[in-house]
Amino acid sequence: MSDDAYKRAYTREKMARLAAEQLLEDKSRELYLSSQQLSEAHDELKKNHAELVTQQSALVKNEKLASIGLLSAGVAHEINNPLAFVNSNLEMLNDYWQAMFSLYSAVEQLLESTDLSNDKKSALKKLIDEEDLEYISSDFKNLFNDTQDGLIRVTNIVQNLQHFSRIHDEDWDNVDINASLESTLKIINHQIKNSLCEIKLNLTCKELVWCNLGELNQVFLNLLQNAIHAMEETETKILTISTEESADNILIRISDTGYGIKKDNYQKIFDPFFTTKTVGQGTGLGLYISYKIVKDHNGDIDIKSEEGKGSQFTITLPLKKADETL
Ligand SMILES: Nc1ncnc2c1ncn2[C@@H]1O[C@H](COP(=O)(O)OP(=O)(O)OP(=O)(O)O)[C@@H](O)[C@H]1O
Ligand SMILES: [Mg+2]
Repeated sequence: MSDDAYKRAYTREKMARLAAEQLLEDKSRELYLSSQQLSEAHDELKKNHAELVTQQSALVKNEKLASIGLLSAGVAHEINNPLAFVNSNLEMLNDYWQAMFSLYSAVEQLLESTDLSNDKKSALKKLIDEEDLEYISSDFKNLFNDTQDGLIRVTNIVQNLQHFSRIHDEDWDNVDINASLESTLKIINHQIKNSLCEIKLNLTCKELVWCNLGELNQVFLNLLQNAIHAMEETETKILTISTEESADNILIRISDTGYGIKKDNYQKIFDPFFTTKTVGQGTGLGLYISYKIVKDHNGDIDIKSEEGKGSQFTITLPLKKADETL
């Protein structure tokens, strides 16, 4: 091969090699970009899937709450009617008893007097002893008070259950949540003093919140009372309440250093009538109703808790009216 022919062949071969290298580089870059896109798409899919799972469980929870709400409002309505006449009959029975009691007191006075023959006195005494009237008259007040307390408790439960059909538009307003937290704290001032817990406030949210104040106060009251209850037996008793803005939301946090929530109970604490408290101390409706109220405000409640260390409840609420956020 002549020198010229060799050079031409060499140049051709070099050009072909460079073109092949360029092609390889281009393809590698394309491949790298595609793999990056694929990995991003995979991440996006994973995120969407996680969101879907959360939304699905929220939907199931909402659905469950909605149907329990309907059921409980119906049951509450049915209980309400007999409850009304039981309450009024009890008042009536108390009046009747007062009349009978006056008669019994008069008979006792008569027994002390000399106006009655001994025969009649012993007949009356026998009757009083046989019917145990002395004990009945002393025990009546206790029985009446206990029955009345029980009826008040049932009435409260029924009113709480009926709450579900009651959120009126006219009760909504732009509200300073910090002020409403402070006023709820004042309402339970005596409970706080008795509990000996230390209060830490960090209320930094400056925005007003569109909400139904009466309903939200009920939520704050329940969360604060739960926190105080949880710290009854613990050595450290610190109740921390904070508000802050985050994007278009307000975050309201109520934290305690109480006994915490068992992992097994996490799923149950929003169920109606779930309580770990003794009879008379809790009905188990507080968080159920609180969750419903927060959901009616397009918000959410999030819990972090560790057994033996404490719990933190975070309420997230949109700052603005739903139609203002569009
Ligand atoms: N801060 C908390 N620390 C530990 N456990 C809690 C806390 N808040 C709630 N719980 C648990 O969740 C359960 C349900 O709370 P919820 O407020 O619904 O009902 P309750 O306080 O028992 O009764 P009530 O109807 O009087 O509010 C409680 O019994 C308790 O076991
Ligand atoms: Mg409670």
